[in-house]
Amino acid sequence: MIEVPDSEILPLSLEHGFWTWSAQAKVSPIPVKSAKGVYFWDVDGKRYLDLNSMVMCANIGHGDERVIAAIVEQAHELPFAGPPMATRPRAALGKLLAQITPGDLDRFLFTLGGADANENAIKLARGYTGRHKILARYRSYHGASAGAMAATGDPRRVAWEPNLMPGVVHFLDPYRYRSTFHRANPELSEEEFTADYLNHLEEIITYEGPETVAAILLETVTGTNGVIIPPKGYLAGVRSLCDRYGILLICDEVMSGFGRTGRWFAVDHWDVVPDLMTMAKGLTSGYAPLGAVAMRAKIAEFFNEHAYQSGLTYNAHPISLAAAVANIQVLQQDHLVEHSAEMGPVLHQMLTNLGEQHPSVGEVRSIGLFGAIELVRDRKTKEPMAPYNGSSVEMIALRKYLLDHGVYLYTHWHTILIIPPLIITPEQLKDGFAVLDKALEITDSAAR
Ligand SMILES: Cc1ncc(COP(=O)(O)O)c(C=O)c1O
Repeated sequence: MIEVPDSEILPLSLEHGFWTWSAQAKVSPIPVKSAKGVYFWDVDGKRYLDLNSMVMCANIGHGDERVIAAIVEQAHELPFAGPPMATRPRAALGKLLAQITPGDLDRFLFTLGGADANENAIKLARGYTGRHKILARYRSYHGASAGAMAATGDPRRVAWEPNLMPGVVHFLDPYRYRSTFHRANPELSEEEFTADYLNHLEEIITYEGPETVAAILLETVTGTNGVIIPPKGYLAGVRSLCDRYGILLICDEVMSGFGRTGRWFAVDHWDVVPDLMTMAKGLTSGYAPLGAVAMRAKIAEFFNEHAYQSGLTYNAHPISLAAAVANIQVLQQDHLVEHSAEMGPVLHQMLTNLGEQHPSVGEVRSIGLFGAIELVRDRKTKEPMAPYNGSSVEMIALRKYLLDHGVYLYTHWHTILIIPPLIITPEQLKDGFAVLDKALEITDSAAR
């Protein structure tokens, strides 16, 4: 190993590293040295409370020795085997996943992360149905490869348009706080609200021609675009539209899976079984790169006689699979899905309290340990604290305050996301909220 003293980690990384989603001259990475539980430390020994699970993925927390041991053991036994091989971790992970995924989702195609899981889900849907269009929502992120980016509805796709995968049509999310359809009648019932958004979707299916639509792809609970939780009846309604028109339902559980919402998968809250379900992040809690597409029996059976024309050198990489097996066992042994469910009301209460105390909080939303705060300049007009796809001096100052005070979390435009490791205790969450409480004075001063 090349000797790199702590003092050289940042300058060498800056000199030779190329940073994603960033202008290179503007990055300021934290030179992270170690991580344990809900914390990580930089090279100067400064501790950060990780309220973003690093990249919304460290569900079991950092530095769990059981997963580290499984990776080491697998590296000794068989660090790599090509995609056509059957291996012990492949056998074990398939068996485990089939136990925890809903319905008859019991065949799994392994990828390296979330974007390529979605790419493959789209190919499977197109292959199975013989149709080509994919309907996806505007407030969504599905990954940064060409197909996943085309499906992404948020502005991260725009820089690469029009040269992305063709055939994607976007529709609106049932996003009550900023609902286009309901500005004049915000008090309507949840049932009516759901019905309006299902009508909107059905209209788009009709206009596009149902016989051209392969799949509807959606994040079960929207992640970076603001933890948007589907209203009652919405997912079941999308499921029945899919059934009516022979369209497949693909649920992207890359962020919402593996206990994040208090159930193994977010779809479990609404008892909906998608035809294809994509996962990554919490599948290994980030200990090794891995994604997967779960498919229902009927889709797997179709490909019994039709060759699936796609692949990856690192499909089913044994080290990643071993990490996933150990990670799922940790989630099970330590009852972390149950803990996430128990912490759900704790987080929700803390968010509600913040909302009551700070005029810049427009709305809070959460499910399990998946939370968001919308910051506004004016509660009446809901003018966001930063424009859509933009930032503001207040949001920059807020983030700086949090980092200066050892709290790491993700801010997205005018929202703050709270997505901590599932092992977090009420006390640790309270520590983070105490800092957040002070930080919100910055945005409060800009609120009318
Ligand atoms: C919902 C969702 N889908 C897909 C992805 C893409 O995953 P990856 O970055 O592993 O390609 C992400 C990443 O943040 C995500 O949040």
